Order: sequence, then structure tokens, then C-alpha cells
Amino acid sequence: VTTAPASTTPIERVTIGLLGCGTVGGALAGLLHAQRSTIVARTGVEIVIGRVAVRDPSKVRDVDLPAEVFTTDTMGVVEDPDVDMIVELIGGVDPARGLVARALDLGKPVVTGNKALLASHGEELYTAADAAGVDLLFEAAVAGAIPLMRPLRESLVGEPVSRVMGIINGTTNYILTKMSEEGASYEDALAEAQQLGYAEEDPTADVEGYDAAAKAAIIATIVYGAIVQADEVYHQGISDITADDIAVAARLGYAIKAIAVVEAAGGGGDGPAEVAVRVHPALVPVTHPLASVRDSFNAVFIEGDAVGELMFYGRGAGGAPTASAVLGDVIDAAVNHINGSSARIGPLGRAIVRPIDELSSAYYLSLAVMDRPGVLARVADEFGRHAVSIRSMEQHGLGDEARLIFITHTSQESAVQATLAALRELDIVSDVHSVIRVVGDED
Ligand code: HSE
Repeated sequence: VTTAPASTTPIERVTIGLLGCGTVGGALAGLLHAQRSTIVARTGVEIVIGRVAVRDPSKVRDVDLPAEVFTTDTMGVVEDPDVDMIVELIGGVDPARGLVARALDLGKPVVTGNKALLASHGEELYTAADAAGVDLLFEAAVAGAIPLMRPLRESLVGEPVSRVMGIINGTTNYILTKMSEEGASYEDALAEAQQLGYAEEDPTADVEGYDAAAKAAIIATIVYGAIVQADEVYHQGISDITADDIAVAARLGYAIKAIAVVEAAGGGGDGPAEVAVRVHPALVPVTHPLASVRDSFNAVFIEGDAVGELMFYGRGAGGAPTASAVLGDVIDAAVNHINGSSARIGPLGRAIVRPIDELSSAYYLSLAVMDRPGVLARVADEFGRHAVSIRSMEQHGLGDEARLIFITHTSQESAVQATLAALRELDIVSDVHSVIRVVGDED
């Protein structure tokens, strides 16, 4: 919470120790320099980068900082008595975990963009921050530049949030956009994403949903006030999605997007919160706001009983956009530090994360079957036997083979999987091409 100082108030100084100075750290240094007078005028606090820990201090960097602030000694920066606050931008669990824990132990506020750390060891770090009475802020950890953690922690803290759906991985959104708009294959779209620097050389974390699962875990933790860890989040990647699936979905009025879904699933009150958290490709009706989120943009759609629908949209990655999120946290933490206050997370129990088998969803299914009398009836019978209700169906007879496309009503995951297992056993079913959930299309 920032307040304008009286004109006679002396300027206070807060010194940052920066851990990591890559594209985000460099952009943060540039923003702090460029916005110095604005920050001082609005808060009465001057924020300076006092020390920077990097792997290679001799590396040429495009940052306006004196050479003597650079060091390789990360813990030395954390423990430096002249450093008031730590900005952790090195990423990964170790050594970030020990450095952040030590900073909090020393009573120093921490700003981090480290989703992997928070989604695996958030519980101990949130507890340590609250025990020390200092800020642990992490706006940049989820959806980059988009202000999301602060609205969830502050504006919506009392809101009965029923569901959050997000496009929270820019790389996969870029790939699916290219496949959708240019008919590109998954492989070609991935190669383009790699050339543009969106996807890593090893794209697994993005395309298999690990990155989004960590972010979804953090969203679930903050929305429902109960710890969810990344390894509890069901995740499915986009590598099986074909340009054909995208074309068929478009004809039926859907876009295919990689979606994170965080939902209340019972519990609450005095008992533990029960939540459903998952990340997977999904058909989204073209009329849904998330369907129009293109390229590498992120967006988060929130549904609450009182607030109705909200949507946040913006850049989920990149140096300057991510540094913008870090800067907001840094200013907030600096002002709180001067005032001796902090934004408490509060006590967090463990959430009960419902297993995917127990969840329900509508489904898009594409099958190759023999094109002869009685086949459709036999296939439809398997749906009925497993209590999976068909919402729409289309059939294209191709001579020897026919293609069947079903969209189901909302059905329990385990029932859909049992139906598919039974269908795969049938001689008349030559292939189950695609199985993709449908979201945002309540029926
Ligand atoms: N690789 C991520 C993405 C950005 O593509 O959205 C960092 O989380």
C-alpha cells in the first residue's frame, strides 16, 4: 500500500540485493533508473540496487550499474547488512530456496518471480515470511506482467471464487495460434516458437504442461487459501493436438487452447478446502473471451459468485513485461519495509486436491470406425452403457472407413475413460484419433 509523502517528508532509501541479472533483472534495473523520480515523488522512497549476484561478473551486460556491485557470492548479497531487501530472479528450486529462506530469516522482504520454488516449497516460505513479518511478493511468478496475484490476494480475498480458467503459458498459446491461423503442423509451429525464443531448445516444460501446472498450483493456493503443489496438478500437453483437430473444432464453433482450470470442489468452512486443478488442451467456444487470446499472450478468466466474470490479459513473459510486475512488488515491499508493515498471506492449510478421475468434463472425441451397418449403434451403445451422454455427433462415411466425431455432455472422467477403453477393444473401431476436453460451454 503506497501513500504520497508530505512535501517535507525526507526521502527514505531502500537498498536491493538482486540475485540474477538476466533479461528480467536487467530490465528491472533500467525501469528503476528511468522511473526513479516518479517512484520518489509518489512514495517518498528511493530504491537503489546495491549488490547484484551473477554467475559471471565479467559478462558484458546492458545495465547501467557500476562494476563493483556485481559478485558471484549469492549468500553474501543476502547477508550483506547494507541490503534491505532481496529480489530473487535466478529461478529453479536450489539454491533459490535457501537464499530466500535466509533472507526471510534475517527479516528482509523478498520479491521473486520463481514459480518452481513457490509451487514446490511455498508452504515453508509463506510461513517464514509471516513469522518474520516481512513481505514475500511474487506477482511475476504467474502470468508475467499481468497483475493477478495482488488482485487475488487483496481485491478478491473475500470473493467466493468458483472457478479460474487461464491461458498461462505463452509458448503453447503461440503454437496453437499458428496451427489454427496458418494450418501449421505442431512440429513447424514449435520450431517457429523456438526460433522466436518463446520455447526452449528442450520445450518439455512448456509443451507438456509443467510450467502451467506450477502456475496453476500457485493460483489455487492463493484463491482458496490452501496449499496446492505443482506435483498435485494433473497436466496434459499439447503435442498430440493436430491441425485437423483444430480445423474440425473450428467448424464446430470452438478454438483449441491450452487451459489451466482451478475450481472449488467442496470443503471449505472449518474443514480443508477441496479443489480441482488441471492443465490440458481444451475446446473453448469461440464466443468465450479466452478463445480470442492469440499468439504468446496470457489471459486469466475468473468467475465469482459476487463479482461475476473478470478477465485479465497481457504478456506472460519477456524481460520488460516481467520486470514491470517485479517493479510493482519491489515498490510495495520497499514502502512496507519503511512503514514496518507487510502483506500477510495468513495461515494456509493443505488443500485436498481431487483426483482427475473424480472430475467431470464434456469431451470431444474423434474415432475411425468401419463404414458398415450397425457400427454407429454399437459405438453409441458403449457410451450409453457407461452413462456418457452424447450431446452432438457427426459422421463422414469414407467408403471402407467412417469418421465419427462426438461431443459429450459433461461426464465423469472415469466414465469417459472406461468408454474409450471399451471402444478400443471393438474390432469395428480402428482408431481413437483424439480425446480433448471441452470447457467454458456449460450444459
Ligand atoms: N515459458 C513460459 C511461457 C514463460 O511460455 O509462458 C515463463 O513462465
